[in-house]
Amino acid sequence: MSRDAFEGQVAIVTGAGHGLGQAMAGMLAELGAVVHGADVAAGELRATQQWIAAADRGAFVPRTLDVRDSLAWEAWVDDIADRHDGQVDILINNAGGVAGQMHHPIEQISDEDWAAVMEVNLGGAFRGIRAVAPLMKARGYGRIVNITSGAGRSWSLTGIQAYTSTKAGEIGLTRQMAFELGPHGITVNAIAPGFIRSNPATERQWRAMSPEEQGRLVAGTPVRRLGTPQDIAWAVRFLVHPQSDFITGQVLSVDGGHQMF
Ligand SMILES: NC(=O)c1ccc[n+]([C@@H]2O[C@H](COP(=O)([O-])OP(=O)(O)OC[C@H]3O[C@@H](n4cnc5c(N)ncnc54)[C@H](O)[C@@H]3O)[C@@H](O)[C@H]2O)c1
Repeated sequence: MSRDAFEGQVAIVTGAGHGLGQAMAGMLAELGAVVHGADVAAGELRATQQWIAAADRGAFVPRTLDVRDSLAWEAWVDDIADRHDGQVDILINNAGGVAGQMHHPIEQISDEDWAAVMEVNLGGAFRGIRAVAPLMKARGYGRIVNITSGAGRSWSLTGIQAYTSTKAGEIGLTRQMAFELGPHGITVNAIAPGFIRSNPATERQWRAMSPEEQGRLVAGTPVRRLGTPQDIAWAVRFLVHPQSDFITGQVLSVDGGHQMF
């Protein structure tokens, strides 16, 4: 895959301040795309900007934004469209997680707990696609990737009901949008990462495991290691490549073979 394939492309990455989103933003910028990255955490976003600039990785334009906010999405995508004459090639819906929650039995889950995860993970992906679809349709081209989880294909180590539900929901959204947007030259796929020690929640989970449990998690992974943010960025790179135009509505597990279907 040549750098030229992405030169001049315009990409949007949510949750770009940290972890997987930061790696994806860095990779796309390095490949020549102008990357517009959003995060609710302004400081984290600045760190991504500095990291990309320091390594001379390419163009990164930060925006502090909460993916739950429809008006903020509209304003952001309008700005991007103005700046690039209506061009948006790539959208990566990555922002998400467990909203700081720990596992509790379902009878202890409040409506607010449930909504907090729903609105970011699934609501954010919905709002992102809704915001960029008209621009992509107008140009007859687009690549959308939703970052779901192995949890969305099965169950979650987090134990958080809303997390698993949103990640399964993102798979449904991916398929429905692939069906709807395919005739417009837009592909929509999902990546289901395996366990990656990229955020406070997974770090907490890892540390809560005994050495034997940690060993079992790695031993249950055919390639015998945990994932890294770079592993996910590589998969994104494949799915958003212009030549991946016959791949849509798919869920790609990037988990060292943990889930095989
Ligand atoms: N790390 C893993 O093991 C793993 C496994 C499967 C799926 N995932 C998924 O990958 C994605 C990224 O995970 P990560 O490990 O990089 O997490 P992370 O916490 O390191 O990064 C997520 C980023 O999203 C941002 N964010 C959270 N809420 C937001 C909001 N409302 N608006 C805008 N930005 C918001 C956070 O500030 C953070 O910078 C998530 O969707 C997560 O569910 C992660």
